[in-house]
Amino acid sequence: MWNLHKEPITIQYQASPFSKAGIFYVSVLILTFIPPLLIAYRSQGFWQRMDTYREQPEIHFKHDMILYLETLLPEKSLAWSTFKNFNQLLQDRVRVPFIQTSETDWNGDGKLDDLNLSLSIPITNEEQIRGVTLLLLFDVKLHRLSSVGLSGLALIQDESVFDGSGMSVSADLVLHQKQPLASRGRDSRFQDPIFDAFSLNPETFEFSKVLRDYSRRNLTTRLSNQYSTWTRCGLGHNNAFTLDIQIHYPEQAIMYTPGIWQVLKWAWVQYLAIAVIFMVVFRQFRSHVFTAQVFPVARRKDVF
Ligand SMILES: *[C@@H]1O[C@H](CO)[C@@H](O)[C@H](O)[C@H]1NC(C)=O
Ligand SMILES: *[C@@H]1O[C@H](CO)[C@@H](O)[C@H](O)[C@H]1NC(C)=O
Repeated sequence: MWNLHKEPITIQYQASPFSKAGIFYVSVLILTFIPPLLIAYRSQGFWQRMDTYREQPEIHFKHDMILYLETLLPEKSLAWSTFKNFNQLLQDRVRVPFIQTSETDWNGDGKLDDLNLSLSIPITNEEQIRGVTLLLLFDVKLHRLSSVGLSGLALIQDESVFDGSGMSVSADLVLHQKQPLASRGRDSRFQDPIFDAFSLNPETFEFSKVLRDYSRRNLTTRLSNQYSTWTRCGLGHNNAFTLDIQIHYPEQAIMYTPGIWQVLKWAWVQYLAIAVIFMVVFRQFRSHVFTAQVFPVARRKDVF
């Protein structure tokens, strides 16, 4: 003969809720379900307040920039910007560069992957370039969870001990977050323009103030993984200083505040993992107490 199937016979133990057995039963129930909650809660991270996901931001170079070239003689330093008002303030120190830019989507996913920018600034022999400061402005958007738009800024600042004829830079444009983003909705708090292009007040274009204000924002961009190399001036005359810049827009980890369902799901999983152990142990204990008839109870066998 084969053993094809097993079916347990149920024995019911019955008593009034206010009897000793009833009170024992309720206490065991409380001990089964409350302590796991306390343990899960006290062991940190019960309510998930922050999580991360990865996204490649949608970045566009706005074709706005401010360029400063420091020379050995301070009064000969040069500058240029795409803001007309700033150029007016510079007066005779303006030097217009020759610019080539291209932004390429190498993997064809609809998002630009890098910026290739080359500037060629005509110089004379007396202008010995020792330092470069370049501010580039970007438009950055995130889409995957909440729709976030922000004003991006990249600062390239470097100097050399010898007269340079050019500098090349390679870097990543990354986000810097002081606050997790929302998990859905629209967020335009970080979209304020960095420069007021229409202002004629010199303070508007003061680097230290602009950078200080920008760094106070909760969501900003900056360059990281940056490498720059200078090319030394050759003998004879140099008629241009060239800047070759490549900025990559990589995928990156972004912090966000999880939505209510994610928080509840994660809390439930933690609670259940601990509660299962308590349920098994206390069920065994209860079974032992009742079968051994520790408390007076009525026994009834189910008959089919
Ligand atoms: C970047 O642009 C410069 C000048 O247009 C070009 O010579 C260079 O090959 C470009 N680099 C890449 C990686 O496209
Ligand atoms: C920036 O973040 C801080 C704390 O993370 C917050 O108190 C403040 O309100 C945020 N500012 C803005 C403009 O969102």
